[in-house]
Amino acid sequence: MKHPHGEEPRAGTPFEFISVARAEPRVMLIEFNRPEKRNALSVAMMTEIARALSGAETDDGIHCAVMTGDDRAFSAGADIRDQHERGSDAALAPEKLAAWETVRSFSKPLIAAVNGYALGGGHELAMAADIVIAGEGATFGQPEINLGIHPGDGATQSLPRLAGKSLAMRLILSGQSMDAAEALAAGLVAEVVDPSRTVERALELAAVIAGKNLLALRLAKACVLNAYETPFSEGLLFERRSLARAFESEHRAEGMRAFVESRATRCREE
Ligand code: COA
Repeated sequence: MKHPHGEEPRAGTPFEFISVARAEPRVMLIEFNRPEKRNALSVAMMTEIARALSGAETDDGIHCAVMTGDDRAFSAGADIRDQHERGSDAALAPEKLAAWETVRSFSKPLIAAVNGYALGGGHELAMAADIVIAGEGATFGQPEINLGIHPGDGATQSLPRLAGKSLAMRLILSGQSMDAAEALAAGLVAEVVDPSRTVERALELAAVIAGKNLLALRLAKACVLNAYETPFSEGLLFERRSLARAFESEHRAEGMRAFVESRATRCREE
């Protein structure tokens, strides 16, 4: 696809399994590039995704990241061939686990634009994103049980939290997948669009988000994610402490001053 705002944000070792571009101001677009394997997540590919997100993490010029696959597959999950050959050494490879940790701890908004299959680790990667935009025809599922294993990149924990026990159990125990409409109804997906518009819509939303203050975005994301980690009452305390930090920022002071003075804010994102 065409990237209107230029090429890779930073130089470094070239990527083999993904491509990275600045697609909108302050938005990084990560496109998976292993179409012949339905974007199966080899350890090397997961490591590249993590490397791209690490770059975005420390680049204040990036406020939001979008990741996507191709028309046929967002990703068909962990690389089965690799796991067949190396067994649990592949499934539990330290560099793979570190890559997942990097994805999950990415502090800026992360959007998944999903067309086609999002299965196994591909579904888990979509669930690790903050917002999922799906094309009609997208397929979500956890087929690991068909291989005599179960999900190992988070779905046994994230699915019940995000979609409830019954649907989580149905997907994980039966291996049967669900379509985009069902994922939408379950709250796993924020919007379903025509597949030709999936990436466009994700970038449109990313552009809106990327126009917001980075500190406020990071604090807001951390608060929402904290809801999955702590009891409600502790989550409220976390939210209050976070809000106190947001109030200390010059961006907040100027934004509120501008509102009461009925003028445009002078705070512009770089
Ligand atoms: N790991 C490794 N290779 C994979 C893969 C995976 N998870 N998913 C697909 N591939 C490879 C296939 O082996 C095939 O490679 P080949 O051309 O060298 O034989 C290629 O991708 C195309 O796959 P194919 O099955 O022919 O495509 P399809 O469009 O008919 O079906 C899927 C797509 C996703 C339904 C099917 O590939 C599939 O079921 N994949 C496994 C999904 C899964 O179990 N994920 C959990 C892994 S733990």
